[in-house]
Amino acid sequence: MTFYFTGTGNSYAAAIKLQQNLHGDLISITDCVQNGEFVFAPADDEPVGIVCPIYYGGLPSIVNEFLEKVQFENAPSYLFGVLTYGGMMMGAGWRLEQKVKKAGLQLSAVFGVKMPANFAILYEPPHEDAAKPILEASEKRLDVIAEKIRDRECVKEGAGIAEIALSTANYPTYDRSRVTAPFYVNDKCVSCGVCARRCPVKAIEMVDGKPTWVLEKCVFCMSCVRCGAIQYGNKLEGRYRYRHPVFRKKKHCCKKKDTAEVE
Ligand SMILES: Cc1cc2nc3c(=O)[nH]c(=O)nc-3n(C[C@H](O)[C@H](O)[C@H](O)COP(=O)(O)O)c2cc1C
Ligand code: SF4
Ligand code: SF4
Repeated sequence: MTFYFTGTGNSYAAAIKLQQNLHGDLISITDCVQNGEFVFAPADDEPVGIVCPIYYGGLPSIVNEFLEKVQFENAPSYLFGVLTYGGMMMGAGWRLEQKVKKAGLQLSAVFGVKMPANFAILYEPPHEDAAKPILEASEKRLDVIAEKIRDRECVKEGAGIAEIALSTANYPTYDRSRVTAPFYVNDKCVSCGVCARRCPVKAIEMVDGKPTWVLEKCVFCMSCVRCGAIQYGNKLEGRYRYRHPVFRKKKHCCKKKDTAEVE
């Protein structure tokens, strides 16, 4: 049983790869939170995983919410985390363990997987040519991790003293930064509504055919900014919008208007 959250596809691709190796259900944390589904019954000895990106050295807000509400009818005998990140894991493994403990559960293992960094509001994400070798290395890393999970290894990454200190310094910034006020759309928007449908916390509503940010704070997952019509102050102008190839299969209507593809 693998729970995942993703903004731009890295953690989704990682969760699919793990599930192909380990079998069991693949469950979207976004769907669980949106549908209020928090009670699960893993089979005896079934590994249970949480796969998600690292934000500011910690967990995305929606993953925190999920972990505060989730209940298992029978406690998982092996609970693991796989955290994808672009540069530094910091103490994200430690944060996951703290969160899981508060839920009355025990974390057996946590692994980090370096993947392309997607935080376009802060920096230029790697373009396709630069992302390719990172993705290839992540595939190999995930095979190794699946092997360790099958062997029920108890590895704790992202939990060293220096890493915890980095996370302690950085993670509080996440809650201050994830404000929606600077989001707006330019005239490339074709009112398709995909950004609103895809937002994990319904922070976007279509008002008079245009996306409108209706929550003060969001997850900051970078899912909506896959569409080149979406701007954040002046931070995203001319910037490449990363998404994993797993999300690149379909073309999007606003491509016709020379914006980035959404789906
Ligand atoms: C708001 C935000 C904060 C991030 N913080 C970190 C970080 O602290 N360390 C890091 O290495 N990568 C960080 N990243 C990069 C993502 O963790 C990384 O690209 C991840 O694989 C994205 O996963 P996804 O495609 O499943 O959304 C951040 C990305 C975002 C959007
Ligand atoms: S995905 Fe892009 S084109 Fe579609 S409604 Fe949102 S901003 Fe407009
Ligand atoms: S508004 Fe955009 S960045 Fe914020 S949670 Fe929704 S999709 Fe993600």
